[in-house]
Amino acid sequence: MAWRGPGAAGSGRSLVSLSLRCRCFHAAVALLKRKTGADHQWLERHLKDPFVKATKQQNYRCRSAFKLLEIDDKLHILRPGLSVLDCGAAPGAWSQVAVERVNALGTDPTVPTGFVLGIDLLRISPLDGAVFLSETDITDPSTLRTIHSLLPAEKVDVILSDMAPNATGIKELDHQKLISLCLGLLNLSQSLLKPKGTLLCKFWDGQDSRLLQGRLKEQFQDVRTVKPQASRKDSAESYYLARLYKGK
Ligand SMILES: C[S@@+](CC[C@H](N)C(=O)[O-])C[C@H]1O[C@@H](n2cnc3c(N)ncnc32)[C@H](O)[C@@H]1O
Ligand SMILES: *[C@@H]1O[C@H](CO)[C@@H](O)[C@H](O)[C@H]1NC(C)=O
Ligand SMILES: *[C@@H]1O[C@H](CO)[C@@H](O)[C@H](O)[C@H]1NC(C)=O
Repeated sequence: MAWRGPGAAGSGRSLVSLSLRCRCFHAAVALLKRKTGADHQWLERHLKDPFVKATKQQNYRCRSAFKLLEIDDKLHILRPGLSVLDCGAAPGAWSQVAVERVNALGTDPTVPTGFVLGIDLLRISPLDGAVFLSETDITDPSTLRTIHSLLPAEKVDVILSDMAPNATGIKELDHQKLISLCLGLLNLSQSLLKPKGTLLCKFWDGQDSRLLQGRLKEQFQDVRTVKPQASRKDSAESYYLARLYKGK
């Protein structure tokens, strides 16, 4: 699936100018360089394609794009025509990936056109192919109605959450805050996620991870833990990928 979105014209750009223009891309290249042996080969194989795309055509807004690309390359959660809600979307890199993979711009007329809605507490700069709900708290009860007013159908196929609270540095507290954000999102799935839908959510590991995992298993047929190589080595961050929503 070729990316032919905005910015596609700049295929002659040098790597150097790209690195200067996009810190996140630079960081990802540094990550690639640090690796050796098998790790390096693994990364090179899996990240080669997105890097080539990123270099030639697209500036991802943040290196976190590579986490979603990696998860999607392995587990195929996005495809043309799907409708996606991206929670904690700022600065917008996951939404960029989602727009590309669900064909939200209709760039490929031979496959269905998808839809992407991103939401964040922070401001998100506009992105072709995505609808953004900036300065909005997903935990605010009034947010659900606003989301519904922006969706093309009542529910979405995929809910992504890369949300994270501002870390206090107190590991246990940060862990609990993020788990309760995830639990809240699971509650929202009832009103927002189609039966058989997918939920991907970031969590920081800790004592309540099992609780969240248990809840997910009650409501989805297939729940697995994913730890992308593109996550920083020192981070306790993982993702739960929950598929086949039972949809109460
Ligand atoms: C790691 S960043 C997401 C990066 C994004 N996936 C990307 O690729 O550009 C986490 C985001 O979650 C947002 N966030 C945290 N709590 C939130 C909440 N209650 N409602 C909406 N967004 C929230 C933060 O503002 C932050 O921008
Ligand atoms: C994190 O802090 C910034 C700056 O104080 C604030 O704008 C933002 O809303 C906070 N994010 C969360 C998730 O609380
Ligand atoms: C989820 O919903 C239940 C019942 O509807 C409620 O008791 C619980 O507090 C909610 N959890 C969160 C984290 O919002």
